[in-house]
Amino acid sequence: MVVTYTIASGKGGTGKTTLSVNLGTMLAHYGKETYIMDTDMGMANIGIVLGLENVPVTLHEVLAGKASISEAIYEGPFGVKVIPSGISLQGFQNADPEHLHDVMKEIIQQCDILILDAPAGISRDGVIPLAIADEVILVVNPEISSMVDALKTKILTELVGGKIKGAILNRATLEKTDISIHKIEEVLGVKVIGIIPDDPNVRRASAYKTPVVVKYPNSPAAVEIKKIAAEIAGVDVKEKELNKDSNEKFLDRLTSSIIKRRK
Ligand SMILES: Nc1ncnc2c1ncn2[C@@H]1O[C@H](COP(=O)(O)OP(=O)(O)O)[C@@H](O)[C@H]1O
Ligand SMILES: [Mg+2]
Repeated sequence: MVVTYTIASGKGGTGKTTLSVNLGTMLAHYGKETYIMDTDMGMANIGIVLGLENVPVTLHEVLAGKASISEAIYEGPFGVKVIPSGISLQGFQNADPEHLHDVMKEIIQQCDILILDAPAGISRDGVIPLAIADEVILVVNPEISSMVDALKTKILTELVGGKIKGAILNRATLEKTDISIHKIEEVLGVKVIGIIPDDPNVRRASAYKTPVVVKYPNSPAAVEIKKIAAEIAGVDVKEKELNKDSNEKFLDRLTSSIIKRRK
C-alpha cells in the first residue's frame, strides 16, 4: 500500500523542497520505492536542487497532455524517483492541475511512498496536495510568523479533509528567541516529529546539486533527517550509522536549550 506524504508550510523558504528531497532520498536508501513529485508548479525547485533543470519532459508537459507520466520520471540518488516540474512560466501556464488526479493514480501503482513537495501559500492549486495526501507534514521555522502560517495550513488541510502527521521544526538554532517545541505543539495541536538544526552544510550540498544526506551524511542536519526517514520507513537505524557522536554536542545543547525554554 502506498503512503503519500505532502510536505507543506505556509510560506516559501521554510525548507519544504530540502526536506522532500532529503527524506525521499533516505527512504529510498532504506529500501522503500520512493517517488518525489514537485507540485510547486509555479516555483518549481526540485529539478534545480537535483540538477534536473534541463530535462526535456517535466510534470508541466504531462499536465499539458503532451507527454505521459512515465516520461517525466528521473532517477535520483539511492534510486529515488523524481518527477520535477518545469521552470518556465510558459510551461506553468500550459499545465492543467485538474489532470493531477489522473497522474497520481498512475504513480501510486508503482511506489511504496510518494512525497509531494507542496507550493507555499493557500492558492486553489496548492490545496490539492493537502487534500490528496494520506498525511501532511508541516515544516516550521523557529519564529512566530512561520508557526502562524503553519497553523493556517493545518486548518486548510483539515477543511479539505486531509490529515496532519506532525510538524518538523527546521533551521533550529540555539537562540533563546527561537520558538519552543512545546509552544509549537500547543499552538498547532500536532506533534513535532523532528528537529533539524540550521546547518550551512545544507546550502553547501545544494551548490553541488546533491542532497545533504548524500553529500555530507554526518552533518548535523543530515543526521536528524535520517532519523525522521528511519522512523517513517519503520527501520531501526543503528546510532553508529546515524553517526550520533559527531553531532552529540550540538544536538545535546540544542535539546537542552529547547527543554529549558519549555519551563
Ligand atoms: N536546515 C537548514 N539549514 C540551513 N539552510 C537550510 C536548511 N533547510 C533549508 N535551508 C535553505 O533554505 C533555503 C530554502 O529552502 P527550501 O527547501 O528551498 O524551502 P521551500 O521549499 O520551503 O521554499 C534554501 O537555500 C535551503 O538550502
Ligand atoms: Mg520549494
